[in-house]
Amino acid sequence: MQTINRLDPLRHATAALRRDGPLALVPTMGALHEGHLALVRAARARAAHVVVSIFVNPMQFGAGEDLAAYPRQLAADSAMLESEGVGVLWAPAVETMYPEGFASHVAVSGVSEGLCGAARPGHFDGVATVVLKLFNQVEPDLAVFGEKDWQQLAVIRRMARDLDLTRPHAGAIIGIATEREADGLARSSRNRYLDADERRIAARLPRALATAAARLRAGDAAAPVLAALREELRAAGFSAVDYAEFRTAGTLVPLARLGAEPARLLVAARIGATRLIDNLAVG
Ligand code: PAF
Repeated sequence: MQTINRLDPLRHATAALRRDGPLALVPTMGALHEGHLALVRAARARAAHVVVSIFVNPMQFGAGEDLAAYPRQLAADSAMLESEGVGVLWAPAVETMYPEGFASHVAVSGVSEGLCGAARPGHFDGVATVVLKLFNQVEPDLAVFGEKDWQQLAVIRRMARDLDLTRPHAGAIIGIATEREADGLARSSRNRYLDADERRIAARLPRALATAAARLRAGDAAAPVLAALREELRAAGFSAVDYAEFRTAGTLVPLARLGAEPARLLVAARIGATRLIDNLAVG
């Protein structure tokens, strides 16, 4: 595996890899866990070579968010990626990604609004901007993202369609099902912030989500199901429920009940300072 942190050598390396067949990109912010490795394996199954990017993107962190505290463990991450057969680890410095004078950003309206966008103003502009830059830097044939960040996936697919991206095109942005712990908790870099009691509370989230999703699948109206879900999470010990929403899967429009279109149940809830998100397919 080559670890590269300058743009010219990256372009050189990816041009060489692309000669063997399709090139996949897995964008990450590091602090890798099994969830990321599942994305890398999915990428390897679909491409001749895989590039993984590790970049803790300041543009997607708001004031008061955990940018400085965000876990950084490049040596450990690099060892994991090496053993997964990754071709290139792209790990640019902040000054490489955003050189002096950098002044552009991508804003994707509609799907960026509400849900996590409401609590984190500007977050999805930061995500869309860095992902577009990563796409232009690596020029992958396909890119792989986790479905745990469902709204992020919807934003990136919208951007790819709206801006007529070709590397990758919108249809080559692959979502991979959420990796879960044995008790169902979605794997996340933020789970490490939970103490033993909080971890027990966190495990109630996927169970409550599954119960609500089953009711929605059975045709129950969304409003009482979502109210019951919020109540169940508060009773379980979550300190706040930022949102519990039932939306169309692609455009993220609120739904009163399940219809013909694929739908998603999405939740963000806090235990102390830790904010957990999760979502499930409903239709
Ligand atoms: O999901 C993440 O880790 C980040 O939001 C991403 C897509 C790598 C952009 O910084």
